[in-house]
Amino acid sequence: MGKHPESLPVINATVGDSHTFHSYSWKRAMALLVVAFWMTMSIIQSRGSTPVRPSLATSAGNTCEQPYPASMPSNLSLFTDEPGFAKAAANRLAGAVRIPTMSFDDMGPVDEDERWAPFKDMHEYLRSTFPLIHAHLNLTIIGGYSLVYTWQGSVAETKPLMLTGHIDVVPSLTALERWSYPPFSGTIDEEWIYGRGAGDCKNNVIGIMTAVEHLLASQWKPTKNIILAFGQDEEISGPRGATNIGKYLEQVYGKNGIAMIVDEGGMNLENIYGKEFALPGIAEKGYLNVEVQVDMLGGHSSIPTPHTSIGILSKIVSAIEDSTVFQPYIDKTSPIWGYLSCVAAHGDTSEIPSWISQGVSSASPNFDEMAHNFANISAGNRYLIQTSKAATIFNAGLKSNALPESARVLFNSRVDIFSSPAKTKGAYYELIRPVAEKYSLLIDGDSFSDAPSIGNITLIASSGHEPSPISPFTSASQAWIVFSRAVQASFGPNVVTAPSAMTGNTDTRFYVSSLRIPSSNIYRWSPTRAGTKLNIHTVDEKIKISTHVEGIKFYTELILQSDALL
Ligand SMILES: *[C@@H]1O[C@H](CO)[C@@H](O)[C@H](O)[C@H]1NC(C)=O
Ligand SMILES: *[C@@H]1O[C@H](CO)[C@@H](O)[C@H](O)[C@H]1NC(C)=O
Ligand SMILES: *[C@@H]1O[C@H](CO)[C@@H](O)[C@H](O)[C@H]1NC(C)=O
Ligand SMILES: *[C@@H]1O[C@H](CO)[C@@H](O)[C@H](O)[C@H]1NC(C)=O
Ligand SMILES: [Zn+2]
Repeated sequence: MGKHPESLPVINATVGDSHTFHSYSWKRAMALLVVAFWMTMSIIQSRGSTPVRPSLATSAGNTCEQPYPASMPSNLSLFTDEPGFAKAAANRLAGAVRIPTMSFDDMGPVDEDERWAPFKDMHEYLRSTFPLIHAHLNLTIIGGYSLVYTWQGSVAETKPLMLTGHIDVVPSLTALERWSYPPFSGTIDEEWIYGRGAGDCKNNVIGIMTAVEHLLASQWKPTKNIILAFGQDEEISGPRGATNIGKYLEQVYGKNGIAMIVDEGGMNLENIYGKEFALPGIAEKGYLNVEVQVDMLGGHSSIPTPHTSIGILSKIVSAIEDSTVFQPYIDKTSPIWGYLSCVAAHGDTSEIPSWISQGVSSASPNFDEMAHNFANISAGNRYLIQTSKAATIFNAGLKSNALPESARVLFNSRVDIFSSPAKTKGAYYELIRPVAEKYSLLIDGDSFSDAPSIGNITLIASSGHEPSPISPFTSASQAWIVFSRAVQASFGPNVVTAPSAMTGNTDTRFYVSSLRIPSSNIYRWSPTRAGTKLNIHTVDEKIKISTHVEGIKFYTELILQSDALL
């Protein structure tokens, strides 16, 4: 997470179909060759394999009812099982990893800052690796280096599916000696692809594009538009990428104009209590930075006041840190309630703890106790259902013999989906108030004590955004069914799709605010089994080759299911 520099206007450098053919006509010849190449790696598909609308046992919208019968792999995704495909797929991903598209918090304008240069190389790499996409899809470049591809469907009046990810990565310039291979070497061994971006999230971007390239090679055609949108700066909160992609899509499709978005994220595919669960994030927490500043009179340190601004601020930091004001919370509308219900319905009954099985079947569940039980399992669990608080920046003092006039701390909070940045700021205010009262300081001009004030406390909220809406997660939602069926077809008929949440953020928050897509059909899921994608944002980031291949299969099935059912 970084700053929120001012957004650029949408740079609308549309490269339409005709224009594409015109400017890249030499590519067409090459594209033909590549069709042949891709076709040899694909099983030639029968077109009669589109999924049929499933008849669900009920249409009541039950939580954790899975599509039945389970959807089977389409002929059109069998290419991922072909000999030689895994190696070719690994090489394509490694090629993208070798391009150091690093995002820095202080990225300058795209036409000034040289650190954008690798993004040009990335565009070139995608053009040469996916020629059919570049011959047949419309490409719009947004914000300098973000890519929006549109695959035109045959039926005009349908809302598109949008698959999204980002082409930037977090920097990898320190601790280089601790990597097994240099972070941008894109090394492949028997099992893994190594390097910065291998798991976050060039695997998603290359996986999506590989799926689409193969569908094109198989002559498959969508009925509705399919949008591929790849931001250039997700790792610094999307000021040029997702911000402007959201505006552009709103211009083109209007509010409520997109049927479903699938982005990176979620909690993998994991074996829990004897059953495999795919765990997409169906909501995202909000975000808030609160800066607390204490201003007091300075003076010579040889005749000090009892407390300096450092001392007062320390008491504030301790009060906030020690407080238990933010508590875990769930209710029947929570993603995590849905998750617990799924675990109870599908897990091995001999392994499921009684607080889950009894809790979800109780007529009047003790939500508070269940929330605490869930949170006590791990910090990772806790912050799915609780607002976090962490002091991350602290500044005070300049001179050994001078009382500091000013001291400042920054608290970062990830705001629970049932709370808001305003409520969270209010909680900070209430925690600071007893300190202001006891030592006679004003908070934002408010006085709490009869004694004369010795200084000012200021609270500045910055970089905030609201939590996302909660996406539907019952069998009443066609988007949820499409997602679940794609999971069955790619990961196996017995894998259960269950809702989960996210402790961090993705680019989708810009699409929520500008697109207001229907009922918020946003699913954040990187199609990876737990333990097969490691060390994101740190040393030895890597992903299993087999995981990347499964991801390609998932994206193929998702496109087919969505085109048939949504
Ligand atoms: C793609 O570009 C062509 C040519 O500019 C245009 O006619 C068509 O409507 C575009 N399709 C989409 C889905 O944007
Ligand atoms: C495609 O799949 C169907 C079953 O869905 C199967 O009957 C058919 O033989 C397959 N066709 C090819 C060409 O593999
Ligand atoms: C506190 O704020 C008041 C009102 O703005 C101002 O007059 C005073 O100088 C401030 N005190 C300090 C120590 O900054
Ligand atoms: C959770 O852990 C806390 C601290 O260890 C403990 O006080 C509390 O009783 C636990 N709650 C539940 C429901 O297990
Ligand atoms: Zn990412």
